[in-house]
Amino acid sequence: MTTSNSFLTGTNLPNLGLSNLGLPNLGLPNLGDLSSFEPEAILAAMPGEHPRAAAALAVGRQTSQTGTLDVAELSRIVNEIYAEGFPAGSPFTQKNEFPTNASLSHIATAAVLPSANTVDDPVQTSTPSMISALPSVASGATNLAFADPINTGYANQWPTSGNLDIGQLLAGSDDPYQAELKSLLGSDSLANSSITAASNAAPYYFLQDSSLKQPSVSQVSVTAHPPFDANLLRKDFPILRELVNGRPLIWFDNAATTQKPQAVIDRISYFYENENSNIHRAAHELAARATDAYEGARETVRRFINAPAVDNIVFVRGTTEAINLVAKTWGKKHLREGDEIVISHLEHHANIVPWQQLCQETGAKLKVAPVDDSGQVLLAEYQQLLTSRVKLVSFTQVSNALGTVTPAAEMIQMAHRAGAKVLLDGAQSVSHMRTDVQALDADFFVFSGHKVFGPTGIGALYGKPEVLNDMPAWQGGGNMIQDVTFDTTVYHDAPAKFEAGTGNIADAVGLGAALEYVECIGIDNIARYEHDLLVYATAAMLKVSGLHFVGTAREKASVLSFRLDGFKSEEVGAALNREGIAVRSGHHCAQPILRRFGVETTVRPSLAFYNTQAEVDVMVNALLRLTSNKAPGGL
Ligand SMILES: Cc1ncc(COP(=O)(O)O)c(C=O)c1O
Repeated sequence: MTTSNSFLTGTNLPNLGLSNLGLPNLGLPNLGDLSSFEPEAILAAMPGEHPRAAAALAVGRQTSQTGTLDVAELSRIVNEIYAEGFPAGSPFTQKNEFPTNASLSHIATAAVLPSANTVDDPVQTSTPSMISALPSVASGATNLAFADPINTGYANQWPTSGNLDIGQLLAGSDDPYQAELKSLLGSDSLANSSITAASNAAPYYFLQDSSLKQPSVSQVSVTAHPPFDANLLRKDFPILRELVNGRPLIWFDNAATTQKPQAVIDRISYFYENENSNIHRAAHELAARATDAYEGARETVRRFINAPAVDNIVFVRGTTEAINLVAKTWGKKHLREGDEIVISHLEHHANIVPWQQLCQETGAKLKVAPVDDSGQVLLAEYQQLLTSRVKLVSFTQVSNALGTVTPAAEMIQMAHRAGAKVLLDGAQSVSHMRTDVQALDADFFVFSGHKVFGPTGIGALYGKPEVLNDMPAWQGGGNMIQDVTFDTTVYHDAPAKFEAGTGNIADAVGLGAALEYVECIGIDNIARYEHDLLVYATAAMLKVSGLHFVGTAREKASVLSFRLDGFKSEEVGAALNREGIAVRSGHHCAQPILRRFGVETTVRPSLAFYNTQAEVDVMVNALLRLTSNKAPGGL
């Protein structure tokens, strides 16, 4: 098979330096062309995790993708393996026989990197990143661009070592795994593996042997969208290199908060190093830089959710504060005894409690639209609630507890027909799907920065201009005024009117960087990838006997809430944590919807675009071990 997209064919094959480690060649065949080499697929098909196989394959993959050897990453993997120890009989059971971090980095540096870039401290070496952020001082805007990882100039300097020898990569592996891998590489046994892709199962091509009748790459359906590579994007998130309980961190708690890319971390540092000042007030250079950066971020938020104007965007602490702001301003002004507010049964406490408080203060009533047994809103029942008494409808676009994607545009239209205003809670949707507040026609849209790869303590409230300007001020003080005397105060228009006091300037700038980062990847690419991953994870998890999903709506995003027979949610959470897997177990601040399904708590893995099928498989394997009581240490 000859293909043009091969990155591991003979002449451009990097010498990973592994042969220099003195690893014995255990006689596996030289596999030649490894077009479409899929390390994750091999790992996914393995019955357990094999650290050395994982490491070798991860390094191979990384090197092939980036065209350079990430010394820090290699060192991390090696240290991780070293910390875990080796099977009895391994050539490396004597720890001191295994190459150290330093010796590895030396090998890697000497073998691969150009001398001008010699790396002294591997841990300090920055990893190649798909996206780099270059804050611009003048505008304060973050200038994000796809950095070509091959641009390092290292790619052409690979010693050409001929074909990749898997035997060399896996040298030191114990026999069962060699046999496993060998058979995987030489057969179509992936199809028979215990965990197979539920949808879109990609064909894997490991061999050029035509007798295997593998389709050529040209036969693979080519998708129209740009390539999306979660493994490459993961490099942008330094925390994903963390070890937890000696295992690589698997972050499946994205519904609680998302991890931050280096671009966001750097942007916030850049702000404090070069721009820090209070905003809007002083006539000096740094005030201008900080104001530009802050207002630039507001423009980014506007663009990201397709609001008509920056004046529609109020910076707040997050979703909770945004909902409280609306309840305590618009709500207080417009609700009276006898009026009604409609929410759905799916809501987070943040979209229940402020309305309850408002009802207590005004004498209005709170009504709840029910859901069916899958966790989807019952539209006929919802319609019944939409009488002329309803002044406000407030509901979530994605349920944080079940993952249900509500038919938001339709529900908004229905509410408008009844003459109600609508607040759409975007806390769980904004990172998973395109937001277009004009197409949705929401009167208010709220979200939190930390759920979309930005900092904590910052979020946004979008309001239609006529609605925002009809709202009384909330907090008083600071920059929200035009003029103050002891008798009276004249307020600015929105958004300044709602941003009293010194706000979270740096984190607003960080939020702008996060949204620009997402724009670079493409929210539609993210949605597509995550959908496939969710389908894959759902099928894989169903292989765990006694696992019951809570929330099975046809339209779901990110969330895989479940119960496991015989185990409390917190026991499952603790068992997964022992394996480095972070999931939420508890009531997810959405007690009413969990009680609707007869449970007080669930285990809730939740996905983001940097998660992979391989990570799902690690979790499923951990659950399988747990249920078959083979967990290390048991329960
Ligand atoms: C649907 C939904 N709404 C509101 C919130 C509250 O968000 P925050 O705590 O960022 O204010 C959350 C947080 O999990 C949520 O999932």
